[in-house]
Amino acid sequence: MNFDLLKSKVTEIVSNTNDSVEKRLFEICNVLESQIDYYDWVGFYFKNGDKDELKLGPYVGESTDHEIIPFGKGICGQVALSNTNFVVPDVSAQDNYLACSISVKAEIVIPIFVDDENIGQIDIDSKTANPFSDKDERFLEFVCHEVAKIL
Ligand code: SME
Repeated sequence: MNFDLLKSKVTEIVSNTNDSVEKRLFEICNVLESQIDYYDWVGFYFKNGDKDELKLGPYVGESTDHEIIPFGKGICGQVALSNTNFVVPDVSAQDNYLACSISVKAEIVIPIFVDDENIGQIDIDSKTANPFSDKDERFLEFVCHEVAKIL
């Protein structure tokens, strides 16, 4: 898997104004989940209006019970408050974690900023233990930066 090629693909998707924003976000999830073998669930969460909670947006993977996540709860809710990347090599070592599936071993969450405000995030679950490196963080920061342009 080649992150540079995937970056081009993400930019192409974001630029396709023929599709709705929702569809483009879904396409990004689809490309990431299908092209990166250790990305097993890929989705977006966004701040739910004025509420201090996240709401599930487009995603690819198993359906999840966690369609609404209060700020502070789980890995996602913590990122909503911390404004920083959260890389979890082993989810079983986390106290504040919301399990989606018992097969998930690791998770990475990267915030999305629009006008310096944390408005949401991309969330990736992996069935592989400790799969994420700095390269994933840089790549996903790029994805979030591109996505922010259409939000
Ligand atoms: N594990 C996340 C919940 C979302 S699911 O991974 C889709 C968390 O702890 O916030």
